[in-house]
Amino acid sequence: MNPLDHAISRRKFLSNSSKAGLAVGLVGSGILTACSNSASGADKAILATSFTQTPLAYDYSALAPNIDAMTMEIHYTKHAAGYAKNLGAAIEEESVDTNKPLEDVLANISKYSTKMRNNGGGHYNHELFWKIMSPEGGGMPQGDLAEAINSSFGSFDAFSEEFNNAAKTRFGSGWAWLVVGADKKLAVGSTANQDNPLMDISEFKGTPLLGLDVWEHAYYLNYQNRRPDYVSAFWDIIDWNMVSDRFAAASM
Ligand SMILES: [Fe+2]
Repeated sequence: MNPLDHAISRRKFLSNSSKAGLAVGLVGSGILTACSNSASGADKAILATSFTQTPLAYDYSALAPNIDAMTMEIHYTKHAAGYAKNLGAAIEEESVDTNKPLEDVLANISKYSTKMRNNGGGHYNHELFWKIMSPEGGGMPQGDLAEAINSSFGSFDAFSEEFNNAAKTRFGSGWAWLVVGADKKLAVGSTANQDNPLMDISEFKGTPLLGLDVWEHAYYLNYQNRRPDYVSAFWDIIDWNMVSDRFAAASM
């Protein structure tokens, strides 16, 4: 993606994310306070997730053939919409302050219900998933993220092999992740069901930069039982500009 396209993509994302509302939540939670004097402080907002579904930045068919249009439509309008709807019910039932980002709830998920865990996780994971894919994706990361991958894994190939293994070997339903940890190191891992590395109950922790849905609903229509083929196809639609922006924000 060229720099102009990237800028347009970023504007679309920030618009879709109700930037102002999220920024209020971030300041309230203290996430933005630490970088409020930074010229790039607004970038921190990309790490905050609202409690409702944001529109896709591309058509259902845009990621084909890697992910087919019918899978995208059912995935977004049925599965992901279901998590968002059930999360809406859970936050009412458990009196969640929605001025704060969803990340605050996930970091304290042990204090909430199983309904909140499954649907809050499901909503967060899918919101991230849509945003780190692009029809102009693929290739390799550049700059600071590329350096961090080399530093943490030895090489991009070593990183991709570790990520592929995490995605292929996650038993049953779950997610594979690239995260940046509290020590600022990158790490790869996976979580079951709709859990994620932000949750206080998760054994694998960090700020997600990249997540891959390996539930069968994410690939079965096109790939049937061939999860490895779906995992391989994912690399051609990763939006490394978005992943790099998340890394920069998480590194502030
Ligand atoms: Fe999914």
